Amino acid sequence: MSKRIAVFISGGGSNARILIDRFRAHPEDGVDVALLVSNKATAGGLLMAAERGVPSLVVTRSDWNDGQELLAALKAYEVDFVVLAGFLWLIPPYLVQAYPGRIVNIHPALLPKYGGKGMYGHYVHEAVKAAGDLESGITIHYVNENYDEGNVIFQAAVRLDPDDSPEQIAERVLRLEHGNYWRVVRELVQR
Ligand code: GRF
Repeated sequence: MSKRIAVFISGGGSNARILIDRFRAHPEDGVDVALLVSNKATAGGLLMAAERGVPSLVVTRSDWNDGQELLAALKAYEVDFVVLAGFLWLIPPYLVQAYPGRIVNIHPALLPKYGGKGMYGHYVHEAVKAAGDLESGITIHYVNENYDEGNVIFQAAVRLDPDDSPEQIAERVLRLEHGNYWRVVRELVQR
């Protein structure tokens, strides 16, 4: 019996695309992306999901704060696990409590460095560049009520070139995300 996941996005959804395509191509993984949730009606990932026939839900800030519609949708789609992939809003207690130990996030840096409120996307890579770090990477972690503070599940590092721009750092890190998130999600969901 496949486990059903909901993927939450705020932007392009390249990680969501990898998850959808991988698990569609490998039914033996036993994971099904049942629903895409976005807090932005203009998120490119919504078109990607529609092209793949994956149902999606756009939540407004009031829906998010209230939670009833979102929880009802997650129940209706029989979602077992929540996977954040570029989702920028803090996860409220009602959702953490509804999915205890079953919400994960991917952060484009080696937490605890470069985490917390406001540290997302290019801000992260600009901070890594400004610090002159010669490595960056990804952190996949459980999600609690605070930004980027849940227990770490997996990390992978990548060496940087001193001349790398923040955009080049972002590219190196995104390749790590695409190569690892689906496998870590598969292992977690099947536990
Ligand atoms: C990625 O950098 C990811 O690490 C972060 O947000 C970005 C999502 O990109 N959480 P995408 O929307 O999956 O392309």
